[in-house]
Amino acid sequence: MILQSISYENFRNHRILTYEPAEGINLIFGPNGSGKTSILEGIHYCALTRGFVSAGDADCLEWQQEYFLLRGDFRSDEGRPQRVHVSYTREKEKQVSVNKNEVKPFSTHIGRIPCITFTPSEIGIITGPPSERRKFIDSAISQTDRRYLEDLLAYRRVLSQRNTLLMQLNERKAQHDPTLSIWSENLAGIAAAIAIKRRRFIGEFSIRLENMYREMDIRENPGMAYRSSLPGAIDAADEEELRERFMKRYRETEKSDIMREQTMTGPHRDDIAFLFNEKEVKRYASQGQTRTFMICLKLSQHRFYSQMLGEKPICLLDDIFSELDERRTERILEVLGTFGQSIITTTERKETGGMTAVSIDSLKKRMERNA
Ligand SMILES: Nc1ncnc2c1ncn2[C@@H]1O[C@H](COP(=O)(O)OP(=O)(O)O)[C@@H](O)[C@H]1O
Ligand SMILES: [Mg+2]
Repeated sequence: MILQSISYENFRNHRILTYEPAEGINLIFGPNGSGKTSILEGIHYCALTRGFVSAGDADCLEWQQEYFLLRGDFRSDEGRPQRVHVSYTREKEKQVSVNKNEVKPFSTHIGRIPCITFTPSEIGIITGPPSERRKFIDSAISQTDRRYLEDLLAYRRVLSQRNTLLMQLNERKAQHDPTLSIWSENLAGIAAAIAIKRRRFIGEFSIRLENMYREMDIRENPGMAYRSSLPGAIDAADEEELRERFMKRYRETEKSDIMREQTMTGPHRDDIAFLFNEKEVKRYASQGQTRTFMICLKLSQHRFYSQMLGEKPICLLDDIFSELDERRTERILEVLGTFGQSIITTTERKETGGMTAVSIDSLKKRMERNA
């Protein structure tokens, strides 16, 4: 996928701006606060209908403005145009359209414009709480598997209904309720489907991660393992068996679930262990090793998407070079060179061959000249 052009109106600090990246590696440089991250945020909005920095749409609306509008012109690797518009006003909900057709629900857009972000704060995927890892894996699978995303959304709905019922039962001091079994059964079915897909993803992804370590000349041995909240190993279980085990578990923990007003088992409680040389990265790796793991994880994600979708994702790299040494940077740029399009932000202009560099300042001046 190639972004040919994107224009911004009233989006964060950009009143009006157009950016036309080249194919291959692009560099956007400018001082802090000049709006580099905002440019990537806009691209992310077009690709995934939301940002990777801002909490909500209203945060992206330039202060005191009534609306923002993003127009991204993408071209698939096969040459098909995808014109994405994202508009938002304070009064109306956000609207997304592709080639003038309204996108609804937004989940149907996910995967159409594959996109990977890469920012220093994402290190939380490794060092942060399990929810960060679940977010990573869910987003990674969702972009390559529409059905998985639908399962996730359904799971969230059923889970919240079950939890509401648990709360009501607790208030009524009830121990059991026939409706609870129905919600548990529904939940078990979707939970099994999600767990199976996550397990499969981890298996397929681990191979690419190992390959990436080799490609980057790193001697450590990376790995990933799924940590299910279901007691006992799930490595060999098929979907039906898992469904039954979830059912059994929900039955066994009914009382304590009611007492806590929460469903204590399921994909929303699972975790992924990231390993290097069979040890947990989170607990044993140095800062440098952790960062290396993160980089290889992201680069593998690119390979994974390319192979699963037959489409090279767009890579958005926000301010990553500040934390890397020269040699590692060189290696990453070499790997990125084999990818489709990458857009990198940085405060300092780097003099490296094979890149298209542009300053925020020059983008702004161009707009003023055209005005
Ligand atoms: N909704 C908004 N309206 C106007 N300005 C904003 C909004 N959100 C963020 N900003 C400002 O935009 C500027 C650019 O932010 P950012 O894109 O993160 O810059 P950079 O990545 O170049 O350091 C910052 O000064 C920030 O305060
Ligand atoms: Mg920034």
